[in-house]
Amino acid sequence: MKKIRKAVFPAAGLGTRFLPATKSQPKEMLPLVDKPMIQYVIEEAKNSGIEHIVIVTGRGKSSIEDHFDISFELEHNLESKGKLDLLQKVRSISDMITVSYVRQKEPLGLGHAILVAKDIIGNEPFAVFLGDDIVDSSVPCMKQMMMIYEEKEASVLALQKVPMSMISSYGVVKAEQISPGLHRIEDLVEKPPIEEAPTDLAIIGRYILGPEIFSILESTPKGSGGEIQLTDGLREYVKTRPIYGLEFEGRRYDTGSKIGYLEATVEFALKDQELGEQFRSYLKRLKL
Ligand code: G1P
Repeated sequence: MKKIRKAVFPAAGLGTRFLPATKSQPKEMLPLVDKPMIQYVIEEAKNSGIEHIVIVTGRGKSSIEDHFDISFELEHNLESKGKLDLLQKVRSISDMITVSYVRQKEPLGLGHAILVAKDIIGNEPFAVFLGDDIVDSSVPCMKQMMMIYEEKEASVLALQKVPMSMISSYGVVKAEQISPGLHRIEDLVEKPPIEEAPTDLAIIGRYILGPEIFSILESTPKGSGGEIQLTDGLREYVKTRPIYGLEFEGRRYDTGSKIGYLEATVEFALKDQELGEQFRSYLKRLKL
């Protein structure tokens, strides 16, 4: 069985939900406390054993490339001022992982974004990380999924039960539970109306997929929102190959929404070593 070495990180979206903050900067670079959101996800990839990440970018996303590159002037400046802690922090980002970039020229959907990475991924199984989902867990979410991949030698999706009132914002699975938290997927549907949702099990933005998904996506017609949907591709995929769904352990933040972003900001600040205590007493002082 092939090890999962590579991952795709689609980052070509326009970030319209965060306008005007995203008018001239990518939403992936918005910070949670002091780290851009994309870095949390790339750290999860690294800590799960991923060696090479393919970031699918678009117009106006060059600050992502700069973030994962060496910044000679900044490093020189920090070094000459003796700010060695900061220097180490900055250096560790460019040393973290091999990154390739590929442009998605038109915003044709998640399925299309993944297809754009086809040549760099090649003929091997790979992971997908969506930046709007940030998972805080003791074992990285993707690592938990890799354990299932190794056991079942099959594709794995991250799942989470969500309130039915929210289900239409997600890809939803029909599945048979085979052990606590582990499901064998039977069918999938992208953003169904409530009354058509088969379960309350939503797909969260982490996937382990076989390279066979590429040829399927090449002939997947436009679906929900007029876009080529990964969920529609998976619906074909599951007809010939097993897919498992894992209700992972951990707290997931939907940082694609303003409320999820605020929740993550507050909770990460409370956990921060330097800020946590001060921030907690500030929140207590606020008479809510
Ligand atoms: C995407 C997927 C959807 C999945 C969701 C998870 O939707 O298309 O199937 O449930 O990510 O965050 P988006 O949130 O990009 O609209």
